[in-house]
Amino acid sequence: MNSAVVGLQWGDEGKGKIIDYLSGDVDVVVRFQGGNNAGHTVVLEGKKYVFHIIPSGILRKDKICVIGNGVVIDPKILIEEIDHLKKMGVSISPKNLRIAFLSHVIMPYHRVMDSFRESKRIQKIGTTKRGIGPCYVDKASRCGIRMIDLINPKVLAFKLKDNLKEKNPLYKNVYGSSHFSFKKILEEYSRYAKILKPYCCDTVDYLYEKRKKSFLFEGAQGTFLDVDFGTYPFVTSSNTVAPNCYLGSGAPFIKIDRFIGVTKAYTTRVGEGPFPTEFAGKLGEHIRAVGKEYGATTARPRRCGWLDLAILDRSVKVNNITEIALTKLDVLDGLKEIRYCSSYTGAFKKYSKFPYDLGEARPVYKKVDGWNEKTADTRQYPKLPKLAKDYITTIEKTLGVPIKLISVGENRKAVIKKS
Ligand code: GDP
Ligand code: IMO
Ligand code: MG
Repeated sequence: MNSAVVGLQWGDEGKGKIIDYLSGDVDVVVRFQGGNNAGHTVVLEGKKYVFHIIPSGILRKDKICVIGNGVVIDPKILIEEIDHLKKMGVSISPKNLRIAFLSHVIMPYHRVMDSFRESKRIQKIGTTKRGIGPCYVDKASRCGIRMIDLINPKVLAFKLKDNLKEKNPLYKNVYGSSHFSFKKILEEYSRYAKILKPYCCDTVDYLYEKRKKSFLFEGAQGTFLDVDFGTYPFVTSSNTVAPNCYLGSGAPFIKIDRFIGVTKAYTTRVGEGPFPTEFAGKLGEHIRAVGKEYGATTARPRRCGWLDLAILDRSVKVNNITEIALTKLDVLDGLKEIRYCSSYTGAFKKYSKFPYDLGEARPVYKKVDGWNEKTADTRQYPKLPKLAKDYITTIEKTLGVPIKLISVGENRKAVIKKS
């Protein structure tokens, strides 16, 4: 069985936890897009691991983790992540971590550009300032530097020189940026190249050789941060949706059986952009405190709101979701009443279809009763409070997709399997 696991909301749905849980049953875990804008948290035996670039399957012994061609890699951050995880006792070597020759490298000027754009533009995106967008821009502009270029000293020097020839005057004149030194960057990135070279390979051939094994594709961000299907322009710069598994890994020969969408039992968002069901006032603070809703990458407070079934309906379609993993149900324990958005109305007309401009949309809420019991220690579906089960059934019925996993805590074991 091969699976894809993707976020159905605006990221941080708990993908890391679900991927870690499911990766026990697979051989290979593949990241296919995004970069270190992602922060995927796994809590295991009291230790917290946050993965930014390395797939969340790495904690499982004997699993192979692959960083696909669709990922953008900040080599400094990747090396730090490897070192940090090794110090935490995780074994990482070219035996269990492979990096695609064709993945693109985040350069210092990408990070600088990310910050400059945010400071100059009227419409701010609230990016993570990790250089993700500018790196994808250079990929599309055909001046990007790939891992295969990074590890070839001559090619690296040529491509870096060519980029700086354009970028130094451009950045100086438009943004007032200080000069990027060819010599300094070349020295720094040549060091990274030496360290990362043993991990790099043609991951297409590598995955093809392993095609009879079982796979899990790990999505980063979420459907509404997708550059095509998200709340554009308040999105990231890659396709986060499940069909990109194939393009971002070069492995369409692996047949995916399960498309697993991860959603919280409520909604969060970090950064700017529309969020129709966002809480006003005290409830937001309550959920943020109970759910520890602070960014795993930037530590920014996450905006919180009710579950939005209208956007989830769209996510189910664009990802071809076959089942849902519902996370953070425990965070709703003790609420008197739970609301969810079932559809939208606009200022002048009722929307009959998904509204492109979510900022215009006004949610229509339905209510269900909340439950008093604590769910965190529950491991069997029938033992959940009846009202919690009612809420789950409502979500399933509205979306027409079964919820097969329910997460009730941050630890690996805090999962309920539902048939
Ligand atoms: P990701 O980016 O989708 O992997 O999600 P993040 O790791 O950024 O954010 C999810 C946060 O919720 C992390 O701190 C997880 O440890 C935590 N978490 C995941 N599932 C649950 C759950 O069911 N209950 C609670 N209380 N916390 C959870
Ligand atoms: P994971 O994988 C939540 C958001 C940023 C910003 C927008 C663009 O942990 O779910 P970018 O740096 O990508 O150009 O920022 O996207 N964003 C995320 N929000 N979780 C993430 O990843 C995110 N990655 C990017 O906050 O609004
Ligand atoms: Mg995250």
